[in-house]
Amino acid sequence: MRRLLVTGGAGFIGSNFVHMVLEEHPDCFVLNLDQLTYAGNLENLDGVMAHPKHVFVRGDICDLPFVEKLFDEHAIDSVVHFAAESHVDRSITGPKVFIDTNVAGTLALLQAASARDTTRFVQVSTDEVYGSLGDEGRFTETTPLAPNSPYSASKASADHLVRAFGHTWGLPYNITRCSNNYGPYQFPEKLIPLMINNARQDKALPVYGDGLHVRDWLFVYDHCTAIWKVLTDAKSGEVYNVGGCNEMANIDVVKMLLHHLGKPESLINYVKDRPGHDRRYAIDAGKTMRDLGWKPSVTFEEGLKQTIDWYIANQAWLDHIVSGDYQSYYDSMYADR
Ligand code: NAD
Ligand code: DAU
Repeated sequence: MRRLLVTGGAGFIGSNFVHMVLEEHPDCFVLNLDQLTYAGNLENLDGVMAHPKHVFVRGDICDLPFVEKLFDEHAIDSVVHFAAESHVDRSITGPKVFIDTNVAGTLALLQAASARDTTRFVQVSTDEVYGSLGDEGRFTETTPLAPNSPYSASKASADHLVRAFGHTWGLPYNITRCSNNYGPYQFPEKLIPLMINNARQDKALPVYGDGLHVRDWLFVYDHCTAIWKVLTDAKSGEVYNVGGCNEMANIDVVKMLLHHLGKPESLINYVKDRPGHDRRYAIDAGKTMRDLGWKPSVTFEEGLKQTIDWYIANQAWLDHIVSGDYQSYYDSMYADR
């Protein structure tokens, strides 16, 4: 049986990954390490907290002795590393924690993993490490790294550390670089859930700049299946781009959301642009498709519809975040321990 350490498994993509693994891969034990920062939410793990193949531990990936103890106590053999500060706007107003978590935290995990018989370390990275595109072309795995925000610079630094530990210590690793994800459990500071949350309350929808910045959207479940294939089937040392070939201007995404929600376009409010805002991302995922036989399971239209339906059916989840109640969930669950 695989004994997998998942970091950041109470966040958006990490929790979707934990659900997928426990449902679809019964031969895998998951140790879920998450600090429960503002972005971590145990409600994302409803239904699997008591699963016999899942152990949740609250803790900091930067704490090396603690991480080493977890590796040994749970006989960890592989790692999928999601834990990060992930929001570009926050990295512009407060970059320090991005270096602490995304760089120093990744270093601690690499130190623990490389000192043991770890069979694979999967670094979940981002297309943002490649910088910004003009009107033409797509990012491939050989596109030079040119990160533009403190967030993407911290992720690129972590990617370099992963490669260096592979080269110097022989740690078997892969790096995945995915485009923008959307789906259930995404914190409502990111474009799609923020707009759904505002629209349901008839609040203004803040569109940065001219709204013509382009992102390449992928349904979160499809990112998770790609990561699983990389973990189980990829050759060590390879980088894999993951994306859905779904390029959309932000304003078109916002209009689609309003249309599905039956809300008026008059809610759209153009606001001051994000400093250093990357104009366009587009992923060439051909290598991942060819080498690993991966492909997305849904179109953007289907995925967006499922996502909107999920947020509307789970408004209590959004309400707990808006009220801050989600952060007391851990204390109430563990009050007797
Ligand atoms: P998220 O912000 O929703 O979740 C991050 C999780 O990490 C949270 O649960 C948080 O509590 C945890 N965490 C933060 N600091 C920690 C620490 N020091 N120790 C332990 N846990 C800590 O992020 P997300 O959107 O799910 O992204 C997950 C990963 O995927 C990130 O590495 C991100 O760079 C990458 N990624 C995200 C996207 C996207 O569109 N969201 C796309 C490509 C790659
Ligand atoms: O490309 C992958 C990256 O996608 C991940 O690595 C990041 O973790 C993830 O946060 C995301 O980064 P973006 O900056 O692209 O995502 P965000 O949802 O913040 O913004 C998407 C686009 O929408 C971007 O062009 C900025 C714009 N935007 C965003 C917000 C929050 C708005 O116009 N208004 C908003 O209020």
